[in-house]
Amino acid sequence: MKILVVGKGGREHALAWKLAQSKGVEKIYCAPGNAGISKLAEIVPIGLTDLVRLADFAQEKKIDLTVVGPELPLTLGIVDVFEERGLRIFGPTKEASEIEGSKAFAKDFMQRYHIPTASFRIFSDPAEAVDFISRASYPLVVKADGLAAGKGTVIVNTPSEAQATIENIMVKKVFGQAGERLLVEEFLEGEEVTVMALTDGERVIPMVSSQDHKRIFDGNTGPNTGGMGAYAPTNVIPDKMMKRIVDEVLDPTISGLAEMGRMYKGVLYTGIIVTDRGPKVLEYNCRFGDPETQAVLPLLETDLVEIFLDIADGYLNINEIKWKDKSCVCVVVASRGYPESEEKDKVIEGLDRCDEIGCMVFHAGTAIKYGKCVTNGGRILGVTAADHSLRAAIAKVYECIQGINFDGMQYRRDIGMRAVKVDSSYF
Ligand code: AMP
Ligand code: GLY
Repeated sequence: MKILVVGKGGREHALAWKLAQSKGVEKIYCAPGNAGISKLAEIVPIGLTDLVRLADFAQEKKIDLTVVGPELPLTLGIVDVFEERGLRIFGPTKEASEIEGSKAFAKDFMQRYHIPTASFRIFSDPAEAVDFISRASYPLVVKADGLAAGKGTVIVNTPSEAQATIENIMVKKVFGQAGERLLVEEFLEGEEVTVMALTDGERVIPMVSSQDHKRIFDGNTGPNTGGMGAYAPTNVIPDKMMKRIVDEVLDPTISGLAEMGRMYKGVLYTGIIVTDRGPKVLEYNCRFGDPETQAVLPLLETDLVEIFLDIADGYLNINEIKWKDKSCVCVVVASRGYPESEEKDKVIEGLDRCDEIGCMVFHAGTAIKYGKCVTNGGRILGVTAADHSLRAAIAKVYECIQGINFDGMQYRRDIGMRAVKVDSSYF
């Protein structure tokens, strides 16, 4: 079987790594990939948004299954383009992907299907938004409506902060088109978890829960990023809470989308805050989370290709998804200046020892230049280990990172630490 993975981050490296373990897989291609992915897949130099060329490639190479990582090709309709040509692909259609592409759509949807979420207002006129926030109680959450690479959300504590944020998003348009509309939301208090679920549009099977670390600095401080590390499973979601999430969130989401004629096939990502009033949905994504996927896939026992084929064919036949009785942690190593700037072309050293320690190093922003593995901006590596306990996995990952070096590397020293109740001085 030949598989095409679309994407170029740590998530796609983890996907390609897991898919390569399936018996029937003879060849993996990845477009556009990165330096790490090139070790287990043939790199295809086609951009993420070049849907027609990607479909031409899949047709020409007789690809049996295409797996899409990032949201952009999904929201542009890669699944529709492939399916029109009879090509098998894992992911939701353009219409179903709108659950991530527009926060306003997602909030309206949740209201309509009684899916628990923070109360909210949507504005397309900045003056109306400013009037509303002058009378609201704080803290509040202000969000750009469209895709803003995870950076379009600001928690504000005062009316003047709220007003400045509204101006940035709607008037100065710092996130471009994503700021045409804006949401103002109730601030939810509680533990934040990620639950990703596999679905054929009817049946929904949740994966183990995971927890991301979104801020750049230790102790959850500094600006929001795409995610600086994750671990799985979490102890925030015992079986009883997972059942509530399935009943109150996942099932009604998938049946609601089907009722609206937006049948959702693929993986549905839910960002959930577990409040003292139960689970509340913060956000949906129409794809696997990154870095969460890097911490979740090493725990998967069931064959991933089988799951993807079933879903792509529209019928999830598997009764149960099996997980290893282990914990896994992924620590993201980023370049200097991330998330604001993108420093590149620094030689990465010390990757050879990671295998010996028992770590996987999933590449994100890496490239090969002059025969060397160099940084390519943003998040660079996801150093990952699974072990019998979360504590043991964390120890392994940080030992491995000690041996990795590139100019300006930065990472958080507290990934997963809250769950094991130790601080970074322990390691
Ligand atoms: P989003 O842009 O919706 O993905 O949100 C980014 C981050 O902001 C989330 O991961 C939360 O940590 C935080 N956040 C977003 N909405 C809320 C909310 N209503 N209450 C509390 N925190 C929030
Ligand atoms: N780690 C957050 C996301 O994938 O959206």
